[in-house]
Amino acid sequence: MKNNNEKFYSLPDLRYNYDVLVPFVSEQQLRIHHQKHHAGYVAGANASFEALDQARNKGIDLDMKAVLKNQAFHLGGYLLHIMFWKNLAPVNAGAGEPSGKILQEINDEFGSFERFQKEFSQTALSTEGSGWAALVYCKRTKRPLLMQIEKHNVNVYPNFKILLVLDVWEHAYYIDYKNDRAKYVEAFWQVVNWKKVEERFERVVGK
Ligand SMILES: [Fe+2]
Repeated sequence: MKNNNEKFYSLPDLRYNYDVLVPFVSEQQLRIHHQKHHAGYVAGANASFEALDQARNKGIDLDMKAVLKNQAFHLGGYLLHIMFWKNLAPVNAGAGEPSGKILQEINDEFGSFERFQKEFSQTALSTEGSGWAALVYCKRTKRPLLMQIEKHNVNVYPNFKILLVLDVWEHAYYIDYKNDRAKYVEAFWQVVNWKKVEERFERVVGK
């Protein structure tokens, strides 16, 4: 049996300061997003394991449907936020336009970078309730495609590799943009770390 006092997940550092993503998000917005919301999913993911361990140690039956739904939600939230922080970069320090192989791949699939941006933005804007827009890659067809994740775990294509994600939960932008998701999505394009996206792409397809 696993030690049920052990914490399996922890909140990772952002690797940049809270004030460097202005004007995409303010220091206050980013700090709360990271320290409260992301931290909440870390706690939720750990709690889901603790609940399993306790029930197993005591031989108590679980409501598996409820437990696993909760676990999928918190693990999804925990992992997606890690990817999100990494695919952001300060303006003038890594953020910019795509180039190289990832740009070629986007052009081949979508026709142009502008067309990709439009489809990705529309994916983000039309995500129902709270969720994520993602650019993913299918190794079987060797094609990039878009994924619209509801909550943190609904509509996920199993085993498709995520290259780029955008958090469109209201908790990501309510301080800076109130309910104006479109303005937030528009600003996102200024802080995309395309080097990181390209790195992920190269890892998936092999250099
Ligand atoms: Fe979030």
